[in-house]
Amino acid sequence: MFEHVQAAPPDAILGLNEAFARDENSEKINLSVGVFKDGSGQTPILACVKAAEQSLVQTETSKNYLGIDGLPGFRQLVPSLLLGDDHVAIGEERIACLQTPGGTGGLRVAADLIATLLPNATMWCSQPTWPNHPKVFAAAGLRVQNYPYLDMSTNQLDIEAMLAKLETIPSGDVVCLHASCHNPSGVDPTPVQWQSLATLISNRGLIPVVDCAYQGFGNGLEEDVYGLRTLCEACPEVFVCNSFSKNFGMYSERIGGLTLVAGKSETAKALGSHAKACVRANYSNPPKHGAAVVAEILGSTELSQQWNSELSGMRDRIHHVREEFVTKMSQRVPDRDFSFIKEQKGMFSFSGLNPMQVDRLRNEFSIYIVGSGRINVAGITPTNIDRLCDSIATVL
Ligand code: LMR
Repeated sequence: MFEHVQAAPPDAILGLNEAFARDENSEKINLSVGVFKDGSGQTPILACVKAAEQSLVQTETSKNYLGIDGLPGFRQLVPSLLLGDDHVAIGEERIACLQTPGGTGGLRVAADLIATLLPNATMWCSQPTWPNHPKVFAAAGLRVQNYPYLDMSTNQLDIEAMLAKLETIPSGDVVCLHASCHNPSGVDPTPVQWQSLATLISNRGLIPVVDCAYQGFGNGLEEDVYGLRTLCEACPEVFVCNSFSKNFGMYSERIGGLTLVAGKSETAKALGSHAKACVRANYSNPPKHGAAVVAEILGSTELSQQWNSELSGMRDRIHHVREEFVTKMSQRVPDRDFSFIKEQKGMFSFSGLNPMQVDRLRNEFSIYIVGSGRINVAGITPTNIDRLCDSIATVL
């Protein structure tokens, strides 16, 4: 039956991790997948996570199944983190929150929910976007199209083109937006641009699905959700898929959430019930550990403070690396302007390297970056930065 089957192509991002693992060069550098690394190149477990895990070892009494929508304490705390404790939608119980296996799991449940309730809707993604967005949405049976986002010649948001395209999208279609630290470009709308986007999306009757994978990695926990809070003020219905992989450093625990904000409490309940039906037919119910850790931290003032300071530490390191990288590149290639890299937010930068240069970096220098030229800035360390900049200067 399957003798004729050819191997599927490797994943655009995670496939590079596999190739990196096979590379025998002792000086190899992995700037592909978006994981934070500290100055020594490690992806550490946060101290607040360790403390919460220690407490759970003492207090946990059962490994019984969670409900289809996950751990109740977690589902209560996540909307507050995203929208703020005193958000009117929380007070009016216009929210259904489900714990999901990572942000990707939340995106898939959101896509299944849309495919169930709006089977003819098209999902609109930014051009460029995270390469897995169109795959997850298409796997749920949705049609996927793009709206313009980045002006590649200036490395700035092309807000005019973006607004002009959104203006033409039929009411009832769905727009996928990145809350902050846009993946892959690191270019986010300004607060004023978010206002324009929210007004237009609301006026046109589009449904925003916001991917919030990097809260706290751009400018801060509050600043990084300005856009999604603005959307929640303007639009009656907003779906938020958030990930705790990066901001809690819990990549392998696969912990995230899907928060459905609706205009009425009954609508939120109904949406939540359909989302649960999607989950039951997919992975049945989510794993507990990551949610228990996040709930333990967000539910404790002391652990939350510790988390905040550890998150600031990660954010500061990325800012510092961006400055160092720009300084060192300008010394090596003085006629090229790299300053835009300092302004970009989060882990990623679009380096401007073309696919041929990306291939040369990999084949000649064992430096792994995504084919689009996306660099995980958080993977640059004091040990690898000079070799990296020398190699980039060579291929340029
Ligand atoms: C990335 O873009 O590198 C991360 O979101 C990890 C992933 O799953 O692709």
